[in-house]
Amino acid sequence: MLYDLVKPVLFSLDAETAHDEVSGLMSLLAALPGAALLLSALTGPEPKGLEKTVFGVRFPNPLGLAAGFDKDGRLIPVLPALGFGFLEIGSVTLEPQPGNPKPRMFRLPESRAVINRMGFNSEGARAVARRLADAPKSAVPLGINLGLNKGVEAAQAPSRYARTFRILAAHGDYFVVNVSSPNTPGLRDLQKVEDLAAVLGAVQDANAARKPVLLKLAPDLADRDFAAAVETAEKLAQGLVVSNTTVSRDGVDAKWRDEAGGLSGAPLKARANELTRKARSMTKLPIIGVGGIENGDDAKERLASGADLVQIYTGLVYGGPACVKKLLRELAA
Ligand SMILES: Cc1cc2nc3c(=O)[nH]c(=O)nc-3n(C[C@H](O)[C@H](O)[C@H](O)COP(=O)(O)O)c2cc1C
Repeated sequence: MLYDLVKPVLFSLDAETAHDEVSGLMSLLAALPGAALLLSALTGPEPKGLEKTVFGVRFPNPLGLAAGFDKDGRLIPVLPALGFGFLEIGSVTLEPQPGNPKPRMFRLPESRAVINRMGFNSEGARAVARRLADAPKSAVPLGINLGLNKGVEAAQAPSRYARTFRILAAHGDYFVVNVSSPNTPGLRDLQKVEDLAAVLGAVQDANAARKPVLLKLAPDLADRDFAAAVETAEKLAQGLVVSNTTVSRDGVDAKWRDEAGGLSGAPLKARANELTRKARSMTKLPIIGVGGIENGDDAKERLASGADLVQIYTGLVYGGPACVKKLLRELAA
């Protein structure tokens, strides 16, 4: 109810400004003792009986926050209070970088969707590692999503991902190799088998602690390329994240056709669900299903399609902070 009042104000702001305002408020709360408890009380009771263990990690429930919301890991003390069973921070790049010029995030309310071309704005791996080392450990399992700085040649990608991983390795419960953002030129070409094997191989060579390393895939891969990427992940990764945002503009108004970036939210749901089913038919690797999940039925459908865990981002923009526990209650019922 509270979000119904706040939402028109937030939606009157540019999408990234609204996100920054919400994040700023949350990081203030993160510093206040007792604020997480208050937030937890405001968003209602957390349903029980949804625990599960996936790739050796115990999750209090299967609903996580998708990468991109908390890129630099500033909100870890407060986000679990909303009910999330896990958080994925990032994408984090090796060196700090500002990302693309603004505006770079757009709401499409008529489609319950978002287009973003943030371009990996990141404080960089060392600053994020320092923050994680100084903060209390996350109350729920923490994933760290690894990105690549703009302008890095494909030949340098394996060593760059491995260095980024090494800097952050002690701080995450699982890691995601993100070669599927549409907003870094050339990045998605790393999904081709040879490059992919080199990137995953380099990260695993640096993975003395045997942390789970997952591969996040784009929804726009041709069937054959998707299958080849899943096959490579079977050899060199411990799981899949399906999927990232899409460059397709199917299901949204034509006026958005020329707005560059990745589309997320409701129009992505069917494709992400189809790819989850396809991946599940090919592999027993654990799958995190993400894309267009808004409610308990969507989450149930994704889990039935073969996902072991699910995540949301855009659903949170439209549903507000209480939608996390609402979804979990629907799932538990
Ligand atoms: C503004 C925004 C920024 C994002 N940034 C990242 C990112 O840095 N790394 C990543 O792997 N995915 C990123 N994503 C993609 C989400 O993690 C997710 O895969 C996608 O949005 C589909 O889920 P959704 O429909 O629930 O939003 C971002 C999404 C949005 C909307």
